[in-house]
Amino acid sequence: MSEHHAPLLELRNVHASYGRIQVLHGIDLVVPRGQVVALLGPNGAGKTTTLLVATGQHPASKGCVHVGGRHVNGVKPDELARLGLCTIPEGRGVFRSLTVRENLVMASYRGMPAEQIITDAVDRFPRLGERIGQVAGTLSGGEQQMLAMARGLATDPGLLIIDELSMGLAPLIVAELYEIVAGIATEGVSILVVEQFARTVLGVADHAVIMQHGTVIAAGPPSDLEAELSAAYLGAST
Ligand SMILES: Nc1ncnc2c1ncn2[C@@H]1O[C@H](COP(=O)(O)OP(=O)(O)O)[C@@H](O)[C@H]1O
Ligand SMILES: [Mg+2]
Repeated sequence: MSEHHAPLLELRNVHASYGRIQVLHGIDLVVPRGQVVALLGPNGAGKTTTLLVATGQHPASKGCVHVGGRHVNGVKPDELARLGLCTIPEGRGVFRSLTVRENLVMASYRGMPAEQIITDAVDRFPRLGERIGQVAGTLSGGEQQMLAMARGLATDPGLLIIDELSMGLAPLIVAELYEIVAGIATEGVSILVVEQFARTVLGVADHAVIMQHGTVIAAGPPSDLEAELSAAYLGAST
């Protein structure tokens, strides 16, 4: 496969451990260009570990990671960032004691001019414009996620990876954020988003992968996965 047509991200039979405890037992995951892929599963399923392996922050003990068709096992996170991977960690990773503007300006280290980053951020997220001088730690959770996404987009990523986008957010704001995610994907940015429960992601995802106990138990278009989702979330109301 030529690099141009290769998926942005591909994990093949990825295994990973913490010390002697193996937590990933052969994960297969593909994120094609310009698509939204949802990685779902209950707490402890291994979702975050999968992201850490994909982004070079934790080693695979077996299996392969490919970014844009290139084999990247062992490649450092900053090199993967240059290849277009951008991660928004669980908890969003904004600088809480800095203002919205300062958080955006700090994202200019990859070369996009600070004024451009601020203009783009305010266009996409008008709420950030209204709060440009506010300290990030005093923003609502949804606004912090907007700020984190704006910072991520400032790196001009090919693949935006978001861990637990909806964590702690009200359903209305989650729906608003997923509309924005869908818009970002139509601009050609691939999205890999991890969620524990949120059904909202299924409305915008092209493809979903369900994990449990460190394995993939189902994968396919969201509409095909209703039964598996119910099984994976026995007792969950969402
Ligand atoms: N730093 C760590 N050290 C040891 N075990 C860990 C560590 N991080 C996660 N684990 C374990 O690995 C498993 C998968 O965790 P994780 O990838 O965080 O799952 P998820 O993101 O789906 O909740 C869990 O059993 C968790 O307890
Ligand atoms: Mg996690």
